[in-house]
Amino acid sequence: MGTLPKTDNKIAIFASGNGSNAEALLTYAKSNDILDHIVTIVTDNPEAKVIQRASAFQIPVEVIPIRRVQFDTFKAAKREQEQQVLTYLKSLSVNWIVLAGYMRIFSPNFLQEFLNREKNIYQVVNIHPSMLPLFPGKDGYGDAFKANVATSGVTVHFVDDGIDTGPIIHQEAFTRNADDTLESFKARGLALEHEIYPKILHKIVNGTLLQEVKL
Ligand code: GRF
Repeated sequence: MGTLPKTDNKIAIFASGNGSNAEALLTYAKSNDILDHIVTIVTDNPEAKVIQRASAFQIPVEVIPIRRVQFDTFKAAKREQEQQVLTYLKSLSVNWIVLAGYMRIFSPNFLQEFLNREKNIYQVVNIHPSMLPLFPGKDGYGDAFKANVATSGVTVHFVDDGIDTGPIIHQEAFTRNADDTLESFKARGLALEHEIYPKILHKIVNGTLLQEVKL
């Protein structure tokens, strides 16, 4: 993994909450000399813990919330926020997005801006806390735990127009122990996420992810 960056890829990490994955990515990037490829951290949540976690890395953190509106105008507010995000990303020439617990779904129009025509994928990746296609949605660990699975896992995938449906890049399983609580189950999964995601980041930085990808 010690290869030097061969691309000028510029990456934005998106997170809405805790930010443990964002921190794992930043920590890895710093110790592997690829931090200059991460040009910003974007959050939609002014209270997100990721803001504090990122402050140790001297990387711009941009808070772009959705304007608080009545339910009937939410769609317009969401579009507005997305447009602000896009303008900001363009100002930094971002060409890859790494989602790390970002709780918003991008619109097809937004995703088009990140289309890789040659591979026919969007240059947007996500980490999901289950063995997709099992347990898509907001609470992968909770849903898998409730379903009493013997093993679950973690998936990194390209984002497409659906919810957790894009082409799978990498998956790893972990066992549910007999004495697991939801907390211990989740903690084991998160630790695996922190191991896996930085390796994918490295492949984005050095260009090998798109070379390897078979779609
Ligand atoms: C992780 O479980 C990730 O798989 C999911 O959201 C969670 C984010 O956790 N998409 P954190 O904010 O990185 O701690």
